[in-house]
Amino acid sequence: MLRVGDLDPETLTELLDLAAAMKQEPLGWERDLRGGAIGCLFEKPSTRTRVSLATAAQRLGMSAIVLNRDEMQLGHGETVADTACVLSSFLDAVTVRTFDHATVEQMADAATIPVVNALSNTHHPCQSLADLLALRERFGALAGLTATFLGDGTSNTCNSFLAAAAASGMHLTLASPPEYATDAHVLAEAREVMAQTGGSVTLTTEPIDAVRTAQAVYAEVWVPMDKPHEREERAARLAAYRVDDALLARAPREAVALHCLPAVRGEEITSEVLDGPRSLVWNQAANRLPTAQAVLHTLITTNRQRTV
Ligand code: CP
Repeated sequence: MLRVGDLDPETLTELLDLAAAMKQEPLGWERDLRGGAIGCLFEKPSTRTRVSLATAAQRLGMSAIVLNRDEMQLGHGETVADTACVLSSFLDAVTVRTFDHATVEQMADAATIPVVNALSNTHHPCQSLADLLALRERFGALAGLTATFLGDGTSNTCNSFLAAAAASGMHLTLASPPEYATDAHVLAEAREVMAQTGGSVTLTTEPIDAVRTAQAVYAEVWVPMDKPHEREERAARLAAYRVDDALLARAPREAVALHCLPAVRGEEITSEVLDGPRSLVWNQAANRLPTAQAVLHTLITTNRQRTV
C-alpha cells in the first residue's frame, strides 16, 4: 500500500470496516499471524506511525523490528532493492517512512512481501485511513460529506486525503495560496475516481469561503520535516489559512477540526481549536492503531494466500 490510490473504493471500505471491528475487539485477530514479524524502516522521525505500527503488529501476534536507516547497511551503500530482497526472506511485511516516494516504490518492486508507505514526501496513506475512520465514526457515512483542507495543497497529507475523499465520494475543498496549489496530475487522478463515486474537489485561495459549508476543516503543519529553511516564507504565505476559533465560527455548527499531528500550536491551528469541543484530532490519532492493524492483517493474509 504505497498510496491511497492503490486501494479501490470497495477495498477502502473493507479496510475501514475491519479497523472498526478491530477497535472494538483489539485482540480478536491475535492468532491469524502469530509468530510473524514486520520491519518498520524509518528515515525520518515519527511518534504516531512508529508506535501504532509496532502495537498493531503486537496485537496481531507478531513482533515489530524498528529499523533506522543509518543503523542499517542501507545507510552505508547497500541498495534499496538488495535490502528488500533480504528483508523479504525474514519478514511478513515492511513499512517504510522515507523522503523520496521512489524509495518506497523501489522497495515494493523488489520485495516479495507487502510494503506499506509509512509516509513519503508525496503520500501518507496510513494517516488518511485513520482520518476516514474518525469521520465515519462522527458522521456515520462518508459519501456526500463536505470537507475543507487548508494550507499546503502539495503536501503528502493533502494528496492522500484528496485521494481518500475521492474514493469515499466526499466533496472536498482545497484552500491554498497559489504557490502551494495541489498538483494538476493529483487532481486529475482524484477527479477520475470522483466521476465514479460522486465526489468532487474544488480549489480556492479564500479560507473563509472555503469553510462555509464544511463539515470537517483540516489543518496541516505548514513546514515539512525536510524544509525547515522555508519556515519564514511559508509562515508568511500561509498565515491566512490558520484554523482558529474565528475561522471555525464561519463553518456549520456541526463542523469538526482535523489535524494529522504533530501540530505547531498557534501556527496552523490554535490550542483553542485543538483542545476544544469541535476537535476530532485525538480520535484521528487514536485511529492510527486499528487502521494499521487492519492494513497489516489484510495485506499479510492476502500475500500468504497468494504465495501458498
Ligand atoms: N501523523 C503522523 O504521521 O505522525 P508521526 O510523524 O508522529 O508518525
